[in-house]
Amino acid sequence: MTQQLSSQHTPVPRRAVVTGSAGFIGSHLAHALVQAGTTVIGVDRRDPVMDPIAAANLGPLLSLPGYVHITADLVGCAIDPLLIDADAVFHLAGIPGVRPSWGPKFTDYVASNILATKRLLDAAARLRVPRLVVASSSSVYGTTDGGHSIETDHPHPASPYAVTKLAEEQLCLAHAAQPHSTISVVALRYFTVYGPRQRTDMFTHRALLTALTGQPLRLYGDGHQRRDFTYINDAVAATIAAATTPDVHGVINVGGGSNASLLEVVGIANSLTGRDIDLRHESPRHGDVLITRAHPGRAHEVLGWKPQVDLPTGMRAHMEFLASEPAVYGRAA
Ligand code: NAD
Ligand code: UGA
Repeated sequence: MTQQLSSQHTPVPRRAVVTGSAGFIGSHLAHALVQAGTTVIGVDRRDPVMDPIAAANLGPLLSLPGYVHITADLVGCAIDPLLIDADAVFHLAGIPGVRPSWGPKFTDYVASNILATKRLLDAAARLRVPRLVVASSSSVYGTTDGGHSIETDHPHPASPYAVTKLAEEQLCLAHAAQPHSTISVVALRYFTVYGPRQRTDMFTHRALLTALTGQPLRLYGDGHQRRDFTYINDAVAATIAAATTPDVHGVINVGGGSNASLLEVVGIANSLTGRDIDLRHESPRHGDVLITRAHPGRAHEVLGWKPQVDLPTGMRAHMEFLASEPAVYGRAA
């Protein structure tokens, strides 16, 4: 089922499907897997021929012989053929973003995060896929007392997006718990992932871009919101471990251990670029939680995973990427 990566002795699946492979996390994951020797079938509804960010995200991947790209929408496409002979499915396709989920796009959240996931699960059961790793979200915890959120905490999602992510992970776990199920499911609750190719609606991207360009930065609320920022390479490492660690199932936090406020992120961006960001204060957004903080224990005990990249180091890499790729990513959404 797995093969060894000779340089690092890291086991990787022989063949895997990555949904959402034209996106931020999915493109990094697919690239890391192919480089480690996995044959990857990448699936995404964004067509790199039409969508410049999808093209840029996929750029380093499309020419690699171990990567096959399929443009398809999981809400309606034939999924079974994609999963043939797959040792693992990494399900990252979905509609992300907390704030827009209150609006008319909610139907898209439900379709992609819940209905498409159900279709994928049914296909995975038919094809007897042994392991599914699904992208869940720190947002399922909702408002907390500021302490560490542990996987056994009762979730209190505070936005429509978070409700769909909780439904998505629980749907996967319910399928895996069926008596005759052959699939094991690991639901990773990622905590605010940042780094090169981060979505242009996200805060770290916007802070670094505005520090680089001198454009103003909209700050929702007072900037004292805190996030457990997770560097993309750390998120990818946890995701691969979730597919290759034997006998693991259930929910696992993936938090970067760099708990910081938005104002601290602004301060790092200022010092990295040597330019003070022009902040424009706006009212707080509904469903935006004040603090996320991952309890790191289960990821370490079960996956042997710990984050390696602190926030200033990761933000430097993110800034250097933005400085070198202004055309496609150099515009805040
Ligand atoms: P992204 O938008 O960059 O990537 C998601 C990709 O999924 C997109 O390319 C999109 O086209 C694709 N997609 C959506 N619906 C689809 C469908 N029906 N069929 C096929 N493809 C579809 O987002 P991201 O930041 O890379 O997030 C990836 C996943 O991780 C999402 O499920 C998100 O909810 C979750 N997540 C992200 C973060 C984060 O900080 N970025 C944190 C927690 C959870
Ligand atoms: C992020 C992702 O966007 C979600 O897809 C993911 O599910 C979630 O992490 C998670 O951890 O589960 P969020 O933490 O809200 O959500 O990250 P950002 O979108 O980067 O926002 C962080 C904070 O910055 C929020 O308080 C937001 O209101 C604020 N913000 C964002 C601004 O002040 N200005 C902006 O232009 C953008």
